[in-house]
Amino acid sequence: MRYSSITDRLADLGSGKWALHIRARQMKASGADIIELTIGEPDLPPDPALLAEAQRAMNAGRYRYSNGRGEPSVVNALTARYAKRRADVTAENVLCFPGTQTALFAVMLGLVEAGDGVLVGDPLYATYDGVIQSTGAHRVTVPLRPEHGFHMQAADLESAITPECRVLLLNTPHNPTGAVLTADEISALGAICRKHDLWIVCDEVYEELIFSGRFASPFDDADLAERTIVVSSISKSHAAPGFRSGWAIGPAEFTARLLPVSETMLFGVQPFIADMTAYALTHEIGTSAEMRRTYKGRAERIAQGLADAPGIVALPPEAGMFILLDVAGTGLTGEAFAWALLEEEGVAVMPGSSFGEEAAFYVRVSLTVPGEAIDEACRRISKLATRLTAPRERRA
Ligand SMILES: Cc1ncc(COP(=O)(O)O)c(C=O)c1O
Repeated sequence: MRYSSITDRLADLGSGKWALHIRARQMKASGADIIELTIGEPDLPPDPALLAEAQRAMNAGRYRYSNGRGEPSVVNALTARYAKRRADVTAENVLCFPGTQTALFAVMLGLVEAGDGVLVGDPLYATYDGVIQSTGAHRVTVPLRPEHGFHMQAADLESAITPECRVLLLNTPHNPTGAVLTADEISALGAICRKHDLWIVCDEVYEELIFSGRFASPFDDADLAERTIVVSSISKSHAAPGFRSGWAIGPAEFTARLLPVSETMLFGVQPFIADMTAYALTHEIGTSAEMRRTYKGRAERIAQGLADAPGIVALPPEAGMFILLDVAGTGLTGEAFAWALLEEEGVAVMPGSSFGEEAAFYVRVSLTVPGEAIDEACRRISKLATRLTAPRERRA
């Protein structure tokens, strides 16, 4: 049978990126002692008030068809939230989606197609290649350099731009590096986007999880308003990834054009989840503050726990739910190190290669297990690193 070319383009860009995670889950299911530090799933539950609100809404009959833009409850809550950042925001700037991932997919579909280039920093979040390539466009890589704390540099952006480039896909705070762009960096990147007439799509899903530094966004710069689209969700901020509740905020002309795309794809999102999201956005909920405290502490604990591990350098994050380890000193790539760590020591981490070519010698460690499990993971990582770096005769 014949298929369309999207199935070829995405063939290796779906769950293939998570092969190690899937293998670790299988090993765990068959009784192996695995410490799972792979995906970014918050380990605390959502606030009980959110669950109560979802249940209340369901019981009140909020399970009927919605509309393509989003339920008024959540559109209003999002309008109020983003109007605090830029006073010109109205409901016309808002589109609801089931999560940041769907928002990214739809937004990219609305901006680029075959032949177009999308600029994105490398390391990059594992699904970005799929999102870009599903449209037929291609990734144009901007290297994110460890010596700059993985902050995208204006000079690197400028020298990567090709005539096909239409969009800069930014992610701040960044997964997997935890980098948080400063206002000055954003304004330098924004000036280049204006000069080359590029859209800016900014994935801000970790906005609430910053440990150090201040959140800054191209969305907040009035000079970039006509070209900036923010995507985000309650997945991380409210520890609620399974509810699949996110949004895109962009220029009214853009959202008007994207609305039929979204309607064709989704036929609206779930009203009871919209009500729960509106509740989350309009009430003081302590979840993100607790996560900030916890994940910052765990990142420091890992950096300390691995300070003496031979061949390993921990790269502490400014935000998010992960810490990168540079494992080049062990003589293995991140991919080989991660598989050895799983098979030999029962610790599952993500190989850097799932996050781009620049991350080939890194592994990404999720901060979503308690301190004792982190300490044990550090012991096991150190054991493997010691074995790998031992002189040949001692290894035998
Ligand atoms: C950078 C980044 N963007 C998007 C997503 C997807 O988020 P959502 O659950 O809102 O679809 C994730 C999830 O880990 C992420 O890390």
